[in-house]
Amino acid sequence: MTDADQVREQSRNDAVEAALGKLDLDTKTRLLAGRDMWSLPAVPAIGLESLVMSDGPIGVRGVRWTADDPSIALPSPTALAAAWDPELARRAGRLLAQEARRKGVHVLLAPTVNLHRSPLGGRHFECYSEDPYLTGAIGSGYVNGVQDGGVGTTVKHYVGNDAETDRFTVDSVIAPRPLRELYLAPFEAIVANAHPWGIMTAYNQVNGTTMTEHQYLVNEVLRAEWGFDGCNVSDWMAARSTTGDIRGGMDVAMPGPTTVYGPALAEAVRAGEVPESAVDEAVRNVLRLAARVGVLEGAPAAVESAPAPIDGQALARELAARGFVLVRNEGALPLDATAGRTVALAGAAARDARVLGGGSATVFPERIVSPLDGLTAALPDGALTFSVGADPSDELTPAGQGFELHAVCRDASGAVLGEGGLPSGQVQWIGDDLPAGVTYETMASIEVRGTFVPRESGRHAFGTRGLGAFALAVGGESLWSGVQEMGNEADPFEAFFGAPNERARVTLTEGEPVEVSLTFQVPDMTALPLRAIMFSLLHLGPRRDADELIAEAVAAAREADTAVVVVATTERLESEGFDRQNLTLPGRQDDLVRAVAAVNPNTVVVVNAGSPVELPWREDVAAVLLTWFPGQEGGAALADVLLGDAEPGGRLPTTWPARFSDAPVTEVVPTDGRLEYREGLFIGYRAYEKHGVTPAYPFGHGLGYTEWTYESLEATADTVRVRLTNTGARPGREVVQVYLAPAQDTAERPASWLAAFAGVVASPGESVETEIPLPARAFEIWDEEARGWRRIGGAYEVRVSHSHGDTRLTATLDIA
Ligand code: BGC
Repeated sequence: MTDADQVREQSRNDAVEAALGKLDLDTKTRLLAGRDMWSLPAVPAIGLESLVMSDGPIGVRGVRWTADDPSIALPSPTALAAAWDPELARRAGRLLAQEARRKGVHVLLAPTVNLHRSPLGGRHFECYSEDPYLTGAIGSGYVNGVQDGGVGTTVKHYVGNDAETDRFTVDSVIAPRPLRELYLAPFEAIVANAHPWGIMTAYNQVNGTTMTEHQYLVNEVLRAEWGFDGCNVSDWMAARSTTGDIRGGMDVAMPGPTTVYGPALAEAVRAGEVPESAVDEAVRNVLRLAARVGVLEGAPAAVESAPAPIDGQALARELAARGFVLVRNEGALPLDATAGRTVALAGAAARDARVLGGGSATVFPERIVSPLDGLTAALPDGALTFSVGADPSDELTPAGQGFELHAVCRDASGAVLGEGGLPSGQVQWIGDDLPAGVTYETMASIEVRGTFVPRESGRHAFGTRGLGAFALAVGGESLWSGVQEMGNEADPFEAFFGAPNERARVTLTEGEPVEVSLTFQVPDMTALPLRAIMFSLLHLGPRRDADELIAEAVAAAREADTAVVVVATTERLESEGFDRQNLTLPGRQDDLVRAVAAVNPNTVVVVNAGSPVELPWREDVAAVLLTWFPGQEGGAALADVLLGDAEPGGRLPTTWPARFSDAPVTEVVPTDGRLEYREGLFIGYRAYEKHGVTPAYPFGHGLGYTEWTYESLEATADTVRVRLTNTGARPGREVVQVYLAPAQDTAERPASWLAAFAGVVASPGESVETEIPLPARAFEIWDEEARGWRRIGGAYEVRVSHSHGDTRLTATLDIA
């Protein structure tokens, strides 16, 4: 911190104390509870504006859950981590700060730094890596970037929220060493390296205590031991105990207006159950956050003026290519773009791209460049054909492509109160975010209505998601009315993540518009803690015969020089709110790849999934490119990479198993409420190595378009110096990975682990030297008895590697 920064911090702290001194108990406790879904109350008497928060992590959705308020959508966090470049993550963060400022958001609910413990984890796509060091490095870059722009972050979900099943109640049972060495490690690194202004405590319990009430992990570890001085915000609806939460160091209960804080907390103080000093401490943390982001009058903001503008579209495109991981290339890529060469593109996701994962990470980009769009723009006329080949979405999804919809809100007499635009069939109005003229008190029904122009002739299915009474009509004909009751799951987000329900099928003709209408009866919401309207009109186009679709794609592939097949997961597989059950690609996509590869030796498979899937045909195709959820510019970046305008820059941030059963952790369903992390320290590559299992593609793996020769390595206990040469024909970037392997282990550690990494760039023929600091922590283990870190001396092999499975140079180190 510079002297000037110190002066500003002092002045900020003085302003915080002065403001705190002016507040009475009721105002203080009110300030610790959400005013609504996304903000805290303003307190004009002390010059405090309302503090506004928003998800995160690939964009900034803003306070409205709708596409009329679009956001730049960057690639999924797995993709960002795949770039192995904290500086790039920082640039992503800066763009997000710019987006936040544009939308009046002060705190971004991100990054998600839980670990890839099991590939089944529903939010795997939203987390960075199976490795705590890589996660901490990318997370630090991201937080630094967002905060460079004067916007706060809440690093989440602290801690042990590595899967989704029963996430509100599950007890993650984690022994001290894995808790410290794996799951807490990224949070600790980010606190040390990026000084985050906020943290979000998770829904789950850790070792028997709910995280929002975890005195040990919050007050003792996070605050006292690590020196975190930010604000602790509960995950949405995670706060469940007034006294437990305030004692557990939870500052803010979100969302509001009805929470365990506010009047209930004031009451607890008056009853002598909670000391007022605990409330003051929490308010101080909120005011400090407000001061940092510039909404507390008289306190200098951490960043006074907005940094230089960033081109979001260009960055989204660059980031996507930097995260693409080329895991196999038998000379097929980059494509030979000589005139007259042809490409046969196949796969439903090539046209309807999956650019982001589901749940709270959803944002609504202004545009989406699909692989079909990207390749159409990049290839000469006539060079590209497209066929669906296989369509994995056999479930209804919110009415989107071909629909023009709006919402009509009526009162009990049927009179129209107001109307609102709808980007899709998904209605998501939270808190006061209602169309003009409409209130919860007056609104009795909402009709989603408009037209649909089918892209294909045939039987179209229509359906609903959400709880309550509905009536559906298509083409003026009433097709279904009924009530959807709450299932057994009792997840408050059921209306959001719940299963789709098909209600009717109608025969429609391509290009002929038809009227559609879904009416929802608004239930009485007076007793609910959070008022929100969530339901969807769903649609699914005609299902064509699967064999016929494959045959079409095969016929096109046979005629083309190159076949590009895009395979994908669906929204019902990868999302917040639930876990996956296996890693197979849905539908007939594996059959499609095999059939195309059988007729075209230049078959390139593009895998559009946020997390690992099985690729049983991977040895039978010419190239496999993982594009994750590539964000809004994904298709443009895909064209850049396929045609060689950019190299695929990514390295795997997580091991890809050959088959699901090889994954180290295959169970994410708690038993009697407990999810025991029995594997201890052995997740990811640490486990594959221990069990002698060869993955499909190892951690750190990824091919660029050039070759690297590693020439020399010098290692000391503090630093590794590596010299390497770009011996290929193109410029490129190499990620130099440093692993440590103890010669003899007395500490029951993994056989090897990532200690450090650095990216280097070089032109063809150019040699570069990089000096990579070795963090002291790389030699340490957590000693629970001593309650501290213990350095383990002895001989280590230092491995300088292209991936965990491809070591290029080694040296021996003797550590005292
Ligand atoms: C998620 C958080 C998110 C919050 C607000 C929760 O369900 O777990 O990650 O920030 O909702 O959308």
